[in-house]
Amino acid sequence: MMAAATTTESAALLQVRNLVTVLGRHRPLVGRRSPGVRAVDGVDLEIAPGEILGLVGESGCGKSTLARTLLGVQRETEGGIVLEGRTVDGLEPQQARRVRSDIQYVHQDPGAALDPWWSIGRSLEEGLTIRGNRSAADRQARVRRALGEVGLDPAMAGRYPHELSGGQLRRVGIARILVLEPRLVILDEPTAGLDLSVQATVLRLLRDLRSRLGLTYLFISHDLAVVRRLCDRVAIMYLGRIVETAPTDQVFGAPRHPYTRALLAASPRLDSAPVDQVPVLGEPPKPGAIPPGCAFHPRCRHAEPQCARSRPESEPVDGRHLVSCLRWRDLTPDPTPSVT
Ligand SMILES: Nc1ncnc2c1ncn2[C@@H]1O[C@H](COP(=O)(O)OP(=O)(O)OP(=O)(O)O)[C@@H](O)[C@H]1O
Ligand SMILES: [Mg+2]
Repeated sequence: MMAAATTTESAALLQVRNLVTVLGRHRPLVGRRSPGVRAVDGVDLEIAPGEILGLVGESGCGKSTLARTLLGVQRETEGGIVLEGRTVDGLEPQQARRVRSDIQYVHQDPGAALDPWWSIGRSLEEGLTIRGNRSAADRQARVRRALGEVGLDPAMAGRYPHELSGGQLRRVGIARILVLEPRLVILDEPTAGLDLSVQATVLRLLRDLRSRLGLTYLFISHDLAVVRRLCDRVAIMYLGRIVETAPTDQVFGAPRHPYTRALLAASPRLDSAPVDQVPVLGEPPKPGAIPPGCAFHPRCRHAEPQCARSRPESEPVDGRHLVSCLRWRDLTPDPTPSVT
């Protein structure tokens, strides 16, 4: 309950401490217990107001689970979440969602999030109705305003999802959460499957909405080229952990973690020079069996015996650049590639 929330001194909009989310833990009456999957395994993260933080990592590393945990639709197993100075962890999902309604989520597939039989206007009004907004006139005015904010004709409210293009559906997906006036928007792969020109307009829209409405984003993406264009800061996730966080130009210009370097080297759309000659070795391990020590050590070309034994703490490289690697001091920072 809000009254139970404590306030802490922090300029961060969102602060996450040692967040752990275990999925699929079974406690059968007979048979073996399943220990579950530590999809989020001790994440520390801060997002400043107005910031765009990118969250990058291979498929299955826990990005969506982290998002769902922040939203409160998935309960955290351990850890602390502070939103605008209020402690909002340790709640049952229904209550967690209410207390964290300042956080909203833009679904990866906006078409799937809309009812095909409902007009766009009705879908957009739904969130307001759930919130208890009883004035139809007020709801409709907010819907028209939100459609305008994402650059769509307010008359679009009368149309149906199948009548819209992919780019229009993305805009509707964004308008759908704007009516709820969020502070933090989590975008899960918002440009996946769009062609490059539509992608560019969606990115422009997101940047424009941030400055006009004072929004803050957690931007989840596989696409490093998009992350580089949009984000102020980037967090790199590997098997449920954040292994490196830095301002965008440092992540791309002077990455420290061997995994970050491998990801950059493996990204076909980046024009910067590849950083490590040998990219990631082999397939990612399953999050059900996270290796001991540094989770990345079995795939790391710089691994030494100590990497299999101790779990690296996050250490400051300088300023806002943090890295979790036992060997980062021994590895020369990569010569900054000539970036245009
Ligand atoms: N209900 C569940 N029970 C057990 N394991 C699960 C469950 N849901 C997801 N997982 C596992 O948790 C891990 C993290 O999944 P998650 O969807 O968060 O990854 P992701 O980084 O968002 O991947 P992608 O980039 O493919 O969207 C995966 O290995 C997934 O298989
Ligand atoms: Mg996902």
